[in-house]
Amino acid sequence: MAEKRILVTGAVGQIGSELTMALRERHGGDSVVAAGRKTKPRPELRDSGPFEFADVTDREVLDGVIKKYDIGTIYHMAAILSAVGEEKPLLCWNVNMNGLHTVLEAAREHSLEKVICPSSIAAFGPETPRDNTPQETVLRPTTMYGVTKVAGELLCDYYVRRFDVDVRGLRYPGIISSETLPGGGTTDYAVAIYYEAIDKGKYTCFVREDTALPMMYMPDCIKATLDLTDADFSKLKHHSDFNVGAFSFTAGELAAEIRKHIPELEVTYEPDSRQKIADSWPRSLDDSAAREEWGWEPGYDLATMTQDMLEKLRKRHAEGKLYQ
Ligand code: SER
Repeated sequence: MAEKRILVTGAVGQIGSELTMALRERHGGDSVVAAGRKTKPRPELRDSGPFEFADVTDREVLDGVIKKYDIGTIYHMAAILSAVGEEKPLLCWNVNMNGLHTVLEAAREHSLEKVICPSSIAAFGPETPRDNTPQETVLRPTTMYGVTKVAGELLCDYYVRRFDVDVRGLRYPGIISSETLPGGGTTDYAVAIYYEAIDKGKYTCFVREDTALPMMYMPDCIKATLDLTDADFSKLKHHSDFNVGAFSFTAGELAAEIRKHIPELEVTYEPDSRQKIADSWPRSLDDSAAREEWGWEPGYDLATMTQDMLEKLRKRHAEGKLYQ
């Protein structure tokens, strides 16, 4: 029997776009269907395999895509992030919760092979221990995004237990990447600083210099996602809520690392409403469950990521397409 196809929702987003390309590399372009709601896909995404405009909260639309392409696995990356979620809490609830529920119900009814759905460090809150945050701990977030992530983890685990659906997920830290800009998150400063360092030589950061958050470079994010996909389900004790860490640094330490390559970089700090969100999240994570259950190990540190980011962005800047 031919291998069933993969659907990536949120495929035009920061993680979805690179995940789709990595999956197409692995399985072949035609085997991976990219879906987005309204943003136009970039040519490499559009031309390397099927693309569908689809609203994932609409069950009929989702069913149509699943049948049309004979989908077996869904990577459900469509979500509203933390900062936009605070501006539009009802939209955040609708997209994140109703979207997830629609995907899980479709997975149950169509007996899909796997669903991979991300959670986030936003599942934690101000009462959670902030350093080396344990896997099992207080989950009382204060953002709507965080509320949807905790409820989402519980809903995913419910589908595993009650309906035997194979659902897996990671609590992603802030993800830093060079291909697609993140949209509307609190950790976006850690990406924007690289772009503006190259473009303007200065950056106004929206969190304080001493703000530390767990972060990860995109190649490690893709690796973690694919490694968890490949893990033997019967050996997993956790399912939808794995802590995964790579490194943690303050905004000031990030600026200092970039200054090793761009000494003239000027950074000023003007905290806005996102500071409060950052202050409610962990500074670092204990990811021993991921390491023990499916062998998680990150490859990049702050120095190697910075080297790679600047190389890629400089090349694009020289071609006049830094922001693509
Ligand atoms: N990067 C996300 C955000 O900042 C966290 O999951 O909202």
